Amino acid sequence: MYNSKITGLGFYVPENVVTNEDLSKMMDTNDEWIQERTGIKERRWIKEGSEDTTAVMGAKASRIAIERAGLTKDDIDFIVFATLSPDYYFPGGGVQLQEMLDMRTVGAVDIRNQCSGFIYAMSVADQFIKTGMYKNILVVGSEFHSGGLDKSTRGRGVTVIFGDGAGAAVLSRTEDNTKGILSSHLHSEGKHAKELIVESPSIMHWVPALIAENDENDESYYPYMNGTFVFKNAVVRFSEAIIEGLQTNNLEATDIDMLIPHQANLRISQFVQKKFKLNDDQIYNNIMKYGNTTAASVIIALTEAWELGKIKDNDLVVLAAFGSGFTWGSVIIRW
Ligand code: ACO
Repeated sequence: MYNSKITGLGFYVPENVVTNEDLSKMMDTNDEWIQERTGIKERRWIKEGSEDTTAVMGAKASRIAIERAGLTKDDIDFIVFATLSPDYYFPGGGVQLQEMLDMRTVGAVDIRNQCSGFIYAMSVADQFIKTGMYKNILVVGSEFHSGGLDKSTRGRGVTVIFGDGAGAAVLSRTEDNTKGILSSHLHSEGKHAKELIVESPSIMHWVPALIAENDENDESYYPYMNGTFVFKNAVVRFSEAIIEGLQTNNLEATDIDMLIPHQANLRISQFVQKKFKLNDDQIYNNIMKYGNTTAASVIIALTEAWELGKIKDNDLVVLAAFGSGFTWGSVIIRW
């Protein structure tokens, strides 16, 4: 059996910076509340009229990752695309990426696992490489949240935490079984689906019916989140997923060189850091700058940490995420 290792990383965020101060002009909120509860100072939101979409940002991040892998688009055998905010209801972003990057007729699969999307995407790609089916897989997480958020005071509990952006990794075959993805761990608990959800449009709430109803009080278009409940589950599941990954590989928390948690909330990351007694060099957070970019967050943070030289050869890198579904998981990597 082969192993898969990351050979290229890239990320892209829109230029437009939206500060907490900017948000306070749209809704009843303030910088102090947002920073105290979430750690977020600013996020990027696609500006009206920009060419950026979920797929376009994914393509921009992908071009960087492919080049850094020392490959060309023609070396890529397969695409795995994670997002909760696809450009179309269908088809998914994977085929758009295949077209935008002019990648022959390689297969493309879409992952619908929200904040755990990139973890699931990595795991799916890893299986295809381990079995020998593919050599180089493009794994992408991208989100265009700002187009679908409720920017009135009604939506403030959700809207202030989300940002737009994309990240991409090239996963490549290696015959060195001591390096690369050691294991991945995926979970779900659908009974909590409605605690973090966008209900419409959906097969049950078709757009024309919604327009006909024209009910301005209908909040089902916007994300609903039971924030406290999600928070409480997140801290538990993050920890479980990390422990599961460590135990599978006979490792201890002290072996972690770099933890990249999904950037849901700085307080969640800090809780996990404290629980595993990690010092500040063993965890990387950038939610302060980008907010929660859902399926893009782990890969954006991983890429940035790597660009800053915080990840070195042979380091034990742990990726972990929790999100809507609920879904959660981890990926353990020997760099
Ligand atoms: N500005 C000012 N006040 C606000 C805002 C805001 N933006 N949002 C809510 N409030 C008010 C509320 O109305 C409430 O007022 P009340 O006490 O008078 O009713 C008060 O602040 C407290 O609100 P809570 O929702 O209890 O605040 P909490 O401390 O729980 O923080 C937060 C909210 C930041 C959303 C937190 O619960 C959280 O981070 N949850 C987890 C997020 C997460 O991990 N999501 C998973 C990934 S996302 C995905 O999968 C798509």
